Amino acid sequence: MPFSSRQRIHLYLLGLLLFGSLASAMKTEDFKTCSQSGFCQRNRLYADDAAALGDAFRSPYAVDADSLHLSLEDTAHITADIINKNADKRFTMALTFLQDNTVRVQMNEKDPLHPRFDAHAAHTLVKAPVAQAPQAVDRTQDNQVTMILDASRKVIVTLEPVKVDFLVNDASVITLNDRGFFNFEHLRTKESHKPKMIQQQNDDGTLEDVQHAAEDTMWEETFKSWTDPKPNGPESIALDISFNGFSHVYGIPEHASTLSLKETRGGDNAYTEPYRLYNTDVFEYALDSPTSLYGAIPFMTAHRKDLSAGIFWMNPSETWIDIVKTKSSKNSLAKLLDFGKKEVTTTQTHWMSEAGVLDLFVFLGPTAKDVLRQYTSLTGTPALPQQFAIGYHQCRWNYINQKDVLEVDQKFDEFEMPYDVIWLDIEYTVEKKYFTWDNTKFPDPIAMEKQLDDKGRQLVAIVDPHIKRADDFPVFEVANKDHYFVQKPTGGDYEGWCWPGQSSWPDFFDPKVCQWWQSLFAFDKFVGTRENVHIWHDMNEPSIFNGPEITMQKEMIHHGNWEHRNLHNLYGLLSFAATSEGVRTRTKVPKRPFVLSRSFYAGAQRYGAVWTGDNMADWDSLAMSMPMILSSGLGGMPFNGADVPGFFGNPGPELLARWYQTGVFQPFFRGHAHIDTKRREPYLVDEPYRSITRKALRTRYALLPYWYTLFYDAFKTGTPMMRPMFMEFPQEEQIFAMEDQFMVGDSILVKPITTEQTTSTDVYFPGEQPWYDLETYQPIYHHGYRTVDAPLEKIPAYYRGGRIIPRRERPRRSSAAMALDPFTLMIALDKKSNAEGTLYLDDGESYDYEAGTFAHTHFVYNKGILTCDSLHADGASAGAQAFAKKMSSVRVERLVLMGTHRQPNRVQLLTKQTTLDLAFSYHEAVSSLEIRDPAVSVVECDWTIRFDF
Ligand code: GLC
Repeated sequence: MPFSSRQRIHLYLLGLLLFGSLASAMKTEDFKTCSQSGFCQRNRLYADDAAALGDAFRSPYAVDADSLHLSLEDTAHITADIINKNADKRFTMALTFLQDNTVRVQMNEKDPLHPRFDAHAAHTLVKAPVAQAPQAVDRTQDNQVTMILDASRKVIVTLEPVKVDFLVNDASVITLNDRGFFNFEHLRTKESHKPKMIQQQNDDGTLEDVQHAAEDTMWEETFKSWTDPKPNGPESIALDISFNGFSHVYGIPEHASTLSLKETRGGDNAYTEPYRLYNTDVFEYALDSPTSLYGAIPFMTAHRKDLSAGIFWMNPSETWIDIVKTKSSKNSLAKLLDFGKKEVTTTQTHWMSEAGVLDLFVFLGPTAKDVLRQYTSLTGTPALPQQFAIGYHQCRWNYINQKDVLEVDQKFDEFEMPYDVIWLDIEYTVEKKYFTWDNTKFPDPIAMEKQLDDKGRQLVAIVDPHIKRADDFPVFEVANKDHYFVQKPTGGDYEGWCWPGQSSWPDFFDPKVCQWWQSLFAFDKFVGTRENVHIWHDMNEPSIFNGPEITMQKEMIHHGNWEHRNLHNLYGLLSFAATSEGVRTRTKVPKRPFVLSRSFYAGAQRYGAVWTGDNMADWDSLAMSMPMILSSGLGGMPFNGADVPGFFGNPGPELLARWYQTGVFQPFFRGHAHIDTKRREPYLVDEPYRSITRKALRTRYALLPYWYTLFYDAFKTGTPMMRPMFMEFPQEEQIFAMEDQFMVGDSILVKPITTEQTTSTDVYFPGEQPWYDLETYQPIYHHGYRTVDAPLEKIPAYYRGGRIIPRRERPRRSSAAMALDPFTLMIALDKKSNAEGTLYLDDGESYDYEAGTFAHTHFVYNKGILTCDSLHADGASAGAQAFAKKMSSVRVERLVLMGTHRQPNRVQLLTKQTTLDLAFSYHEAVSSLEIRDPAVSVVECDWTIRFDF
């Protein structure tokens, strides 16, 4: 008997429930392996065939020397035809030399049967890349063209077989088509296609011509009960990219994998599948796996002691990446790199995308921060969020009604735990029709929101992109009437199942659909919302319960007649962008939007935050949150967090406390829980866990000024707030793969405890400067590993010597309540007794900072003198002056000098008007000095504090 769509959803939910309680394992069979994904299998076979031939293999692709055209003055590019000699097909190649050590390599089919998808750049790049002419060209070698970019960088194009080398100090650091795996499947008709044949030996020893295994998936492929008709046949693009002399590559989120990416073919501890980038909703995803998850950013960085370099493979179709590492001792590289007799490791990668064109950026660093600047100058830097967004968020599937929301809100106050935002999951709606409220549960949402607003708090409501097909639902009616949904190849709306039952998906690839979607967030359209309501945008991979791999069939059609296969990984980015833009523009004067999206692609950092999806409430998932968020930051998407303390399952109080302690130091900090879990708001746990969690929440709030400054830095430079150790200490090889400790900004080192009943841990202290315990200020003069105490109430965290870190210590109920609170400056001295740091402040919500309405102060402690200077522009606008005036009453209420071995004779405040002795207390046991209420301003740098030792 067929089930109704509602029954099916109930069955699905029942399945989730049963599955969730009986076993906790991903259903791997729901997702393709490389050999089940035609083009991945074809390209792996191509690589295997090439490798099997060894030296006898020659890539059939060569530059047609006659077509070579150099236009180096303004446009700074080289164009040429590339010929595939086996297929007698031509391709176009363009190399463009860009500002800031960046080179773009583009390839397309020449005269294709029909256009290949090349409409990705407009959605991914923020601006047209700016060309910069090379200094010189050398064409003295027959088979090569050498572009000299500057004194230390060159690009060499080898004509036959085609190969491109990027050199730094005369050593090739990145090579394209090193192993000859470059394979551009040209478009063809089925009739004209000549299958590749190979000879097979039969059992009786006779030889027979049979089709190569790669032919099986050229024109149609089947996975489980789905058949992909592939009307365009094969159209994949693959290229091997070697990172010469690099043992570590990072990035390409999103995977639940290690920070330093693993090998995927051979090697110790290697995966057997390539890393996959194909946005999918994976139920109870496996840890330590190259399986694709909700987001996809095809951006990889390689790092070694002397250099970081990166590549951005700008292709939003399904993509797989194989990684192998090869060691060589005799390599000429070893000499050039001056690594002495040591073995040199090269990381060889093989990128395979299903469709589109080749569009690749190469970034030559030289540091990991430079690579991120180079990447984010193209794809956009992370947006500066509203201040509240970096506080603590309290979510649950679901707060059941208005009373429940307000009670939870009240309990946080009762238990003196700060929080900023309470969240509503899908059950607040009428039958999952987004933009509606179930009035039986939420009779007066505006009144509820006002009550939250009175305490400076916010509400986030979920709006997913699947639209219930229901005639009494105006959003559906309009979209249906105006053909706003993704279409079937035969015409008509594509339909699938998601939370509301039978649904359709807006085609965000169509600009008019985006405009319509944006308009739905207006207060008079999404009735029941006001300014303190923000949006959670989930299931936008898109997640389709009855689709192949829980997503949309690839043959569905988007605006412009593009198949979904071309732009699958863009869908989440487009829906995220439209939602964010809708929230941004719903007020007359736009405000910084807050939107959380589950799916993402390159450029998503411009639109808000993401999270690591449906994790488990277990210790391994807590540990995995670190490499996942770090990799996301290395993918240019640093505003990320994991559900605290795990989405599925019921965490014990120890795990809960340890997870809260960790969340404090991760950029997006949200408690969330599956609908079937026990209530676990942080005030519900018994003592001592409750106090431990309260302390963790308060630590987050005390560090908000530091966090906000880091978000501002990320917005300016692309440097992530949460950083892998190697980013701050790029010379220390032993930490290149370290993922169980990390840096928050450049000033705080954190080593979360991710195992049960642990009371001590080994922390690696890098660099030559001292470190200071975050709570006791105890200095640590040590380089390398040291065992430290980590009882339940303590997360090992340290200030870095040489830095000044701003804090706000007064416990408040929300970040809004802290706006005019005084500051504490933590001055962590380096070996020479110096330190410096910055503080960024603005109104925390508007775009007035664009007109200079902010304060950016640089504090310096040097030779016993503390001063500050303003980094914001002089002669500031009226707005900026008004802001400075408002903030001028905000004072420093405490200074802590860490690592001072003597007590001073006196400490004096010097201003133009007065000289004043300041009271201090010295704590000999920890060598720290505390100055109470120096009462100096953090925005007006008209003071000096002198320490006479
Ligand atoms: C998805 C989300 C989860 C949410 C649930 C219901 O599973 O990842 O966070 O609670 O949908 O909306």
